[in-house]
Amino acid sequence: MINLAILGSGRGSNCRVLLEAIRNGTIRATPRLVISDVIGAPILDIAREFDVPVACVLSEKFKTRYESEVEMRLVKMLRDQDVELIALAGFMRVLKEPALDAFPRRIVNIHPSLLPRFPGLEAWKQALAAGEKVTGCTVHYVDKEIDHGDIIAQREVPVLPGDTAESLHGRIQTAEHALYPETVAALCRTIAATD
Ligand code: GRF
Repeated sequence: MINLAILGSGRGSNCRVLLEAIRNGTIRATPRLVISDVIGAPILDIAREFDVPVACVLSEKFKTRYESEVEMRLVKMLRDQDVELIALAGFMRVLKEPALDAFPRRIVNIHPSLLPRFPGLEAWKQALAAGEKVTGCTVHYVDKEIDHGDIIAQREVPVLPGDTAESLHGRIQTAEHALYPETVAALCRTIAATD
């Protein structure tokens, strides 16, 4: 079993599908910790529903990253739980050297576009504004650039005539909820086979 941590700032729908896939045995992992940078984030309630320990790691100074002492504290928490794979699920801070160096190619993220198209915020709105006929979602390794590291898996989603930002976002999230558990399951199998 791979020790998994999930980090998120918000709603937690991807966290839920990962925890469901662990519960039903599709992902061979132990969820050691769900961490948020937002007190009271719904993702923490989802973790509690699944009896997964939760923690908040807050920053007094920054909104989109951590001061390095705080990020080192985050790394220590993850190491203390022997975490082997970290899945970002709507985590709104950019991780820097402390975490990237401690967990090389062991931090993954899901992004709501076909990267390298449309990194950044509200990628579905960007795709709609650009007149794309197809967009989708991407699971990628996290590196020091935003929404950038090596791509692990992608799923296409059609942009339909009459789509609104909401309808397109909903369709992308449905695709995410299939792609992320599948991809994390495959990563856990690879890590288990190589360690
Ligand atoms: C997802 O759409 C993901 O692609 C992006 O943040 C969103 C998180 O949604 N990185 P949720 O909190 O998992 O519902």
